[in-house]
Amino acid sequence: MTKSYSDKNVICNDSTNPAFSQIASAINLNLSRRSLLTGSGAAATGLLLAGLPDLASAAAQSAARAGKALKPAALGFAGIPLSDADTVTVPAGYRAQLVNAWGDAVGLAGNLPAFKQDGSNSFVEQMAQSGMHHDGMHFFPLPYGSQNSAHGLLAINHEYTDDGLLHTDGMKTWTAEKVRKAQAAHGVSIIEVKKGEAGWQQVLPSSYARRVSTLTACAISGPAAGHALMKTVDDPTGREVLGTLNNCANGWTPWGTYLTCEENWNGYFVDWSNNMKPDGFNAKRYGVKEKDAGYRWAEHDLRFDAQLNPHEPNRFGWVVEIDPYHPDSKPVKRTALGRFKHEGAALAIAPDQRCVFYMGDDERFEYIYKFVTKRPYDAKNRRANANLLDEGTLYVAKFNADGSGEWLELTHGKNGLTAANGFADQGELLVKTRLAADHVGATKMDRPEWTTVNPHNQGEIFCTLTNNSERGKEGKPGPDAANPRANNLFGHIMRWVEAGNNPAATTFQWNILVLAGNDKAAKDEHKGNIKGDVFGSPDGLHFDANGLLWVQTDVSTTTLNKKEYAGMGNNQMVAMVPETGEARRFLTGPRGCEITGIAFTPDHKTLFVNIQHPGEPDSERNDPANPKAISSWPNGALGGRPRSGTVVITRDDGGVIGL
Ligand code: FEO
Ligand code: CA
Ligand code: CA
Repeated sequence: MTKSYSDKNVICNDSTNPAFSQIASAINLNLSRRSLLTGSGAAATGLLLAGLPDLASAAAQSAARAGKALKPAALGFAGIPLSDADTVTVPAGYRAQLVNAWGDAVGLAGNLPAFKQDGSNSFVEQMAQSGMHHDGMHFFPLPYGSQNSAHGLLAINHEYTDDGLLHTDGMKTWTAEKVRKAQAAHGVSIIEVKKGEAGWQQVLPSSYARRVSTLTACAISGPAAGHALMKTVDDPTGREVLGTLNNCANGWTPWGTYLTCEENWNGYFVDWSNNMKPDGFNAKRYGVKEKDAGYRWAEHDLRFDAQLNPHEPNRFGWVVEIDPYHPDSKPVKRTALGRFKHEGAALAIAPDQRCVFYMGDDERFEYIYKFVTKRPYDAKNRRANANLLDEGTLYVAKFNADGSGEWLELTHGKNGLTAANGFADQGELLVKTRLAADHVGATKMDRPEWTTVNPHNQGEIFCTLTNNSERGKEGKPGPDAANPRANNLFGHIMRWVEAGNNPAATTFQWNILVLAGNDKAAKDEHKGNIKGDVFGSPDGLHFDANGLLWVQTDVSTTTLNKKEYAGMGNNQMVAMVPETGEARRFLTGPRGCEITGIAFTPDHKTLFVNIQHPGEPDSERNDPANPKAISSWPNGALGGRPRSGTVVITRDDGGVIGL
């Protein structure tokens, strides 16, 4: 996202809980080097197969016990070079087609407004069109319960708006209509897609088509629903909120619902006085400030004036469950999963069929969480799972320097999470999840983004830590075992295996899979044992059913212009084989974009990927009239405005993607 709109410069965590930075870095680096010498296979550029526990082996043994012996996948495509071209490039034998972009009609019957290249669509039209800045995404086969790989629904997040592009004259004037249009361009689109002779296309109209935006009524459920901290003048029940926003990464459930995750929600509120109020935790620990991040909603929508509505911010920062198969169903904010800057929610299923969701809190020095449902899910009765996400246990991760880890429980009455320490009940604890995690001593990480689970064993988890240029700066936590680089411009990927390969376990073993980038620290770890393609700032992450780990990058446009990043090209997508350390570049995006959002059809012969914010400048918002504009993707010179969109990738021979 754009510099001016993002929270990349925000650090809210000045808690004194142990980050073990003082003790760990030397230990970790020594172990890392040893692992390479003892041979975890070839390492790729940017790869560090750290040798804390032999996690790949542990996962394989566990899978073998379960009768699912793992064989490393083999990459079957020719890698592509770095690119600075304003286009999407995929390997020979593959094709990428645009299937949906910002402003395309989602498919509401009798309401199919055409996109206007000059940005003049009204907010009412925008409510029937795809939102801006596509992010997390999932494919749901049609009909429900099938494995249809030629017809289904795409649920697509729209993370934020670039108002310089959204309106004809950008933000030169500022009106209530523009605020409404921006709110309508946030949220989620549900579109129907079908494969035909001309390839994949949207079905228009579609009885499933839907927009969920910041103007859509959502229910609030779970332990914080109805809590005093969730009540407002407009909603004295504390059980209903208008809309969702900053929908970043995603998740899905085994009962066919979509999870959309609210990330940098604080940037929409203004509250110059919050520090002086009892509710000041939103200022101190969540970054609600005197100024917003540039959205200017509060000027025309007092709901976003947190001085007037001090509880309204408490109603954002949640995971929201949407049933894509029922367009009239109400989205539900599931408070049991905690309140922070949610990136995504990756599913694992425990042996007893309880569902586990791994979740990053994407800010510098924030934490990694997981939620374990209280009850198993019922594979035969969809309705029985309707409120499964309302009861369960939330944990936060502590990474010990010896390669062990612990899940610290965030339950009222345990681990000092008592009224005396500021948590009157579970509802308050969840509204203040970050403070609870501080209290139990979670590990401060380098911006946890996506998580993903190896579907073959359910207990091997990966997480991207995208970057943290503040690590090691004066007054900030220094490098530690889990975040080993100061000034971490390029990020890394962490891997852990739950005890017994059971995602409901409370202990784990971890190591670092990848140090991304091209800096000296990464290269020193390779000792010449390099095989693979370079990338930076991993963000999107997906472990597919064939054993490939797909990594999508979000090098910020400010970093793209740093000399340290020279020669590393536009943002991209890489396929990796974790067991062998191979990494191969599969896709490069247009200029100024981030690659994010990944969804396969069940047969893995179709891959959907999102291109977010093509043409993003390194400062301020886009101005389509700027003669220095770097991108007009996807519509070329005629397009006028670059547009975020979904591309669909298939193989010319109809084969499985990546193999
Ligand atoms: Fe919206 Fe952390 O990426
Ligand atoms: Ca992201
Ligand atoms: Ca990112």
